[in-house]
Amino acid sequence: MTGWDATLATGNPVVDAVHRHLQELLEIVDRATPRQRQKLVTPRLLRDLYKQFEGLFAAEHALMRDCGYDRQSRHEIEHKAMLSTLAQLIDQFDENCVNMAINFLEKWLASHLKAEDRPLAEFIRQRPPRGGG
Ligand SMILES: [Fe+2]
Repeated sequence: MTGWDATLATGNPVVDAVHRHLQELLEIVDRATPRQRQKLVTPRLLRDLYKQFEGLFAAEHALMRDCGYDRQSRHEIEHKAMLSTLAQLIDQFDENCVNMAINFLEKWLASHLKAEDRPLAEFIRQRPPRGGG
């Protein structure tokens, strides 16, 4: 993780703010010592993240609908699978889950942002949502 990536900007304030927030949070976790991580990554944090992801995904889905995005269904499948893995990690949370959760979130975000969210942002830049004026 190397800070906020401007190529991910969709122009949607909710999507952009949550992307930025998630990237910043993962950077904090990245820099933390193992002991700090144990304190930081708790079921409560994961539940909070779950809610943020839910909100982010709903905003992305609305955005995709608004601009007639052609890859919406595969993008939504990734979101759904992600929430289900995160829910499992929360349900079975124990000490070992801290590193598992961090690894999962880092890998998922890095790959999803690159493979799905960046093409969406590019699509929107070339073809702004309908009904804007
Ligand atoms: Fe997404």
